[in-house]
Amino acid sequence: MTNQNDIAEFEKIAADTLSKLSSYQLEANQSGSPASGYAPMREILQKLDVENYMQNGGMTRESFKGFLNRYLKNSVQLHSPSFIAHQVSVPDNPGILSGMINSVMNNPMAIYEMGPAAATLEFRVVNWMLEKIGWVQEPMPDTVDESVDRDSHAAGVLVHGGSLANLTCMLAARAKVAPNAWTDGVPSDLAVMVPKVSHYSNERAVAIMGLGSKAIYPIDVDEWGVVKVKSLETTYAKIKADGKRCMAVIANASSTATGLHDPLVAMGEFCQKHNLWFHVDACHGATALLAKDVKHYFDGVEMADSFVWDAHKMMQVPVLCAAALFKSAKDLDAAFHQDASYLAYGENREGYDSIQRAVECTKSSLSLKIFLNIAFRGEQALGEFVSDRYAMAKRFYSLLKQRHNFYVPYEPETNILCFRFQGVDGKATDELQQKIRFEMMKRKEFHITSTLINGVRYLRVTIMNKLTDEKILTSLLDKVEELAEEFS
Ligand SMILES: Cc1ncc(COP(=O)(O)O)c(C=O)c1O
Repeated sequence: MTNQNDIAEFEKIAADTLSKLSSYQLEANQSGSPASGYAPMREILQKLDVENYMQNGGMTRESFKGFLNRYLKNSVQLHSPSFIAHQVSVPDNPGILSGMINSVMNNPMAIYEMGPAAATLEFRVVNWMLEKIGWVQEPMPDTVDESVDRDSHAAGVLVHGGSLANLTCMLAARAKVAPNAWTDGVPSDLAVMVPKVSHYSNERAVAIMGLGSKAIYPIDVDEWGVVKVKSLETTYAKIKADGKRCMAVIANASSTATGLHDPLVAMGEFCQKHNLWFHVDACHGATALLAKDVKHYFDGVEMADSFVWDAHKMMQVPVLCAAALFKSAKDLDAAFHQDASYLAYGENREGYDSIQRAVECTKSSLSLKIFLNIAFRGEQALGEFVSDRYAMAKRFYSLLKQRHNFYVPYEPETNILCFRFQGVDGKATDELQQKIRFEMMKRKEFHITSTLINGVRYLRVTIMNKLTDEKILTSLLDKVEELAEEFS
């Protein structure tokens, strides 16, 4: 592009890009389209002519077309129904539009004056999420004064991903038990109860906050990684015996590895009994709150103090977009203590600032992604998508049960399912699972993941794409068998 103000040229290149991206989606949507762009790094550097462009610049409208084509080919094709790997959404088109709009406008909206429309949407979208959990929505800022009890309603903030959202929740939990930690540093007697199997971002949050991994007291789980209710009391007793204070109890809804839910009712009651902070990491599962047939997995969630919802997982919005939500606005407002006189002017202004509630200073207009998906599709359709993908995982479970070559350890609760190629003698090794997965990815035929459960290697799918059907899942199993035969 010759210069930034040549809007006519931008329009042409943008039209070329849109046209290419649309045909990319159409082609990738076909059954049998490549699921992966896996290639060695040196090969990608060469194919994309990276060194030339880095040193000389000079990309033109024509050469950009070629570059984009090769860039897409060497990337993961989430739109392919054979991509059944990670918990990343195949973004729906309204959400995709928000990416374009945000990139042009570039409103860093954490302070209202830097993105009034986006900040307004964030306030509304967050309230919608709070209501789904069963919490009291935050009143409009212009109705709040000193007389409003900030404990009487909930609040939340959109942030760049579930890991930051978990960290935000842990900071609020810390402020509750150790209000002076922000100024005086972290007391050495804080402990956090974390299920033995949980997303690493929870442990990372604890480490970032300076509690040290010694602060983590693992809650015992059953053989498929679900919290054992009995172990709550024993873990808590250990914390007390060690002379420590429990800062938070974490539940998975659902767990990353297996997609199973921890028992929220029992955990909520346990936390209420001992007056402990209850954090629900619902990065993956939260969108089920919109789905009539599966929202029961969230029974008891209203007892939580904090809740994390990744919209870029099951709400079909592009990365990154997550919410950190709190039953008490007061708790969220205690998470950070920052004076930034160049941003928070202390004037009696219009609108809503989220800057005091998030790690980020410059924050993308995340709310537009969620809002456009709701506005175009409707809340009901978003819920039906979740029900439909969860049901497809159940059908995959039945397919697996019909084949002697496979072992499937549990019935899925979400769209995540682990399974293992065991072979007729049941002796297939962990290495074989890895080899099969990698080979499928190299051949670009299927992209799936794998995980360890109780030290045993499983193959793992996450059925995110609405086009992944029984036919594709059947051919996945055929392919696994074929490769196992090839490697034997
Ligand atoms: C349960 C859970 N928590 C946290 C995360 C981290 O979220 P993000 O990747 O958005 O940072 C994930 C991501 O897979 C998850 O499954």
